Amino acid sequence: MFKKKSKSDSKPKESWKVLIVDDEPDIHTVTKITLGRFEFDDKKIEFLSAYSGSQAKEILAAHSDIALVFLDVVMESDDAGLLVAQYIREELKNTFVRIILRTGQPGQAPEREIIVNYDINDYKEKTNLSSDKLFTVMYTGLRGYRDILSIENARAMLENHRVGLEKVIDSTASLFRIRSLDKFANGLLVQLASLLHVDKNALCGETSNCAVKKVNDNFEIIAATGVLQPTVGVTPDLPENIIALFNRACAEQKSILNAGAFVGYFPTTNTGINLIYLERVGQIDALDRQLLELFSHNISVAFENLALDKEIFDTQSEIIDTLGEVVESRSKEAANHVRRVSHLSKALAEWAGLAEDEANQLFMASPMHDVGKVAIPDSVLLKPGKLDASEWEIMKSHVSIGHDIFARSKRPVLKAAAIVAGQHHEKYNGKGYPNGLAGEDIHIFGRIVALVDVFDALSHSRCYKEAWPLEEVVALLNEEKGEHFDPKLVDLFIENIDKVTHIMDSYPD
Ligand code: C2E
Ligand code: SIN
Ligand code: SIN
Ligand code: FE
Ligand code: FE
Repeated sequence: MFKKKSKSDSKPKESWKVLIVDDEPDIHTVTKITLGRFEFDDKKIEFLSAYSGSQAKEILAAHSDIALVFLDVVMESDDAGLLVAQYIREELKNTFVRIILRTGQPGQAPEREIIVNYDINDYKEKTNLSSDKLFTVMYTGLRGYRDILSIENARAMLENHRVGLEKVIDSTASLFRIRSLDKFANGLLVQLASLLHVDKNALCGETSNCAVKKVNDNFEIIAATGVLQPTVGVTPDLPENIIALFNRACAEQKSILNAGAFVGYFPTTNTGINLIYLERVGQIDALDRQLLELFSHNISVAFENLALDKEIFDTQSEIIDTLGEVVESRSKEAANHVRRVSHLSKALAEWAGLAEDEANQLFMASPMHDVGKVAIPDSVLLKPGKLDASEWEIMKSHVSIGHDIFARSKRPVLKAAAIVAGQHHEKYNGKGYPNGLAGEDIHIFGRIVALVDVFDALSHSRCYKEAWPLEEVVALLNEEKGEHFDPKLVDLFIENIDKVTHIMDSYPD
């Protein structure tokens, strides 16, 4: 984005290009001989020759870096040279090249208007081609060209600054609208990659670009592209070279550019340090560095704001987790059951296309699906074998008890918890309890948790049953597709079974 794409590409490197336009070959010869050893700013002259107006136009169109043109007026027509001048300024829009008109007839000066309009820099009579005169014309012409180029380069630099600043402001503005830390960090990776000229292909390839949060001496991944993407949300084994760079940035308390890699260091006052690692960073110039610094400052502020949001979210989650654990510990289910149900429900919600805040509500509410079990006596809850009919009636009441605990709350998360607790044993075919709801009359939260709860209950052992192998659990999901479970959800769940098992493995009993 900030790559210099300016007229500086056309700046002469070893020589100045000078175009001689004249239908008389002798004029070419004399000019070249006279100026053969001319140098300006330690650079020699490279002559180009055109013998007509039309040939001149072709050469000018092909060479945007011609410094100076000696231009005959009368060639194939009386005004052929003037048409070339017009072509240069108006069609090629080349305002850099210096134009020296040369007339064959003494006293036949071009009109003032033409000199002004086509920015003609000088005109000379061809009869007056002494080497002194030519030298002076050449010298002032090239000096003018050089000065114009340097002004143009400065202008292009300013333009790059402006474009760069706008990009930083736009990036920050769009990032500030994102209210979740992981999405924010993801956007940040993309925006930084663009500021740092990271090879676009690198973003999806075998790279380890990531955003992490420093927790004690560990780095927790909050966003990633490339090979680290599947590790988001779990504690990964980061490659040692990346850990070393993170530690160095923390020790030096600043961002680092190191052999094509960028390590961004974003401290916040309350919630610790966020770091970014980007590979295959392109050429970084002074301007990029300044922009990066500005961007980084804004990013730290944004992290700070997000951290406050996250603090509230974490507090809520912790309360809910604790509640869930109370339940699960009473029924001797491992505490990780609620975590698995929580993560799997959120994941399934996302696969089903639910909005982000709904998926987050479900993440917090789903661990409470069995909260009503606190009211079930141990003799029933912990019975090692099959329940009899009256025990089963008692057991089923965990659903309405759970629903009633949350039903009066107006908080979205607790309303979601009431739905989940009250509907997680309804079945898609209408044969579930407590109300025999069918199909989409069961809230999507209820349908999701029904599937996830059974999947997890079957995959692990209970006081009354052994754990089932994955194939058999999947077979049951398929058998119950459209019966116990929403068929669309079964398909989504099985399509994503690799991610499911990854979550399961992250929270073992
Ligand atoms: P849970 O252990 O959390 O099981 C949740 C759901 O997973 C069950 O809901 C059921 O749909 C499914 N599930 C669990 N184990 C099996 C199984 O071996 N086969 C099949 N096909 N499905 C299974 P459900 O049936 O409404 O039970 C609700 C709760 O009642 C269970 O929660 C558990 O706490 C209790 N429960 C159910 N059956 C028994 C039992 O035979 N003995 C004891 N002690 N408790 C039971
Ligand atoms: C049971 O009757 O024990 C199980 C009921 C069910 O899975 O819906
Ligand atoms: C929805 O109800 O939002 C679609 C998800 C589903 O029913 O499987
Ligand atoms: Fe239940
Ligand atoms: Fe459960």
